[in-house]
Amino acid sequence: MQAKEQLTEIKYFVRRLFRDDITGHDYYHMQRVAHLARLIAEEEGADSFICEAAAWLHDVGDDKLFTNPDMVEKELDGLLQQLSLSQQQISAITQAMQDVSFRKGKNPKTLEGKVVQDADRLDAVGAIGIARAFAYSGAKGRPLYHEKKDNHTIQHFYDKLLRIPDKLHTTTAKTIAEDRHQVLKRFLEQFYQEWNYTLENE
Ligand code: ADP
Ligand code: NI
Repeated sequence: MQAKEQLTEIKYFVRRLFRDDITGHDYYHMQRVAHLARLIAEEEGADSFICEAAAWLHDVGDDKLFTNPDMVEKELDGLLQQLSLSQQQISAITQAMQDVSFRKGKNPKTLEGKVVQDADRLDAVGAIGIARAFAYSGAKGRPLYHEKKDNHTIQHFYDKLLRIPDKLHTTTAKTIAEDRHQVLKRFLEQFYQEWNYTLENE
């Protein structure tokens, strides 16, 4: 099986698992991360096939997204076995996937893990990053903003999103992040302006 066909099979698998997601981890998130991972890999001299495959699969089996992660992990093993990949490729993909988690703040050991983690983090900033944060919060029943509590979506910007540029590994991702970081800052300024405008004019 050629690399292109292997990636097509991976996409079908991912589409089936993430088609109905409403937490910002839908099929299109995987597609953007895969695209960014390939682009960053090419710039950074990483293995672009491993990066792209691991990027498509990076959220498979995440325990916050799946009620039965063990079953999904087994399905993933089955898929990787069917694709006529070498054992070395399978372990490289698995390693890069394990390296990724943004929430768990893992520190990737391999260049491919770094590339996929950077690609995933880039999708949490910029306009799409903002949209995903509110989608995630909505799905979890959290408020947009609150002046007294701190479990709101705006707080997540300070906890995680504004810190992303400092956490990126590759210079390619850092360059892409610059614009997206400015978008977050501009969004927050405008958000507070509108919020206060309403209060002042009450
Ligand atoms: P992972 O990439 O490992 O799935 P997360 O679940 O932390 O990591 O992040 C995935 C997406 O969900 C990101 O866009 C992130 O901003 C969003 N997200 C995660 N936690 C929160 C939260 N508490 N509030 C708002 N958005 C969140
Ligand atoms: Ni992700």
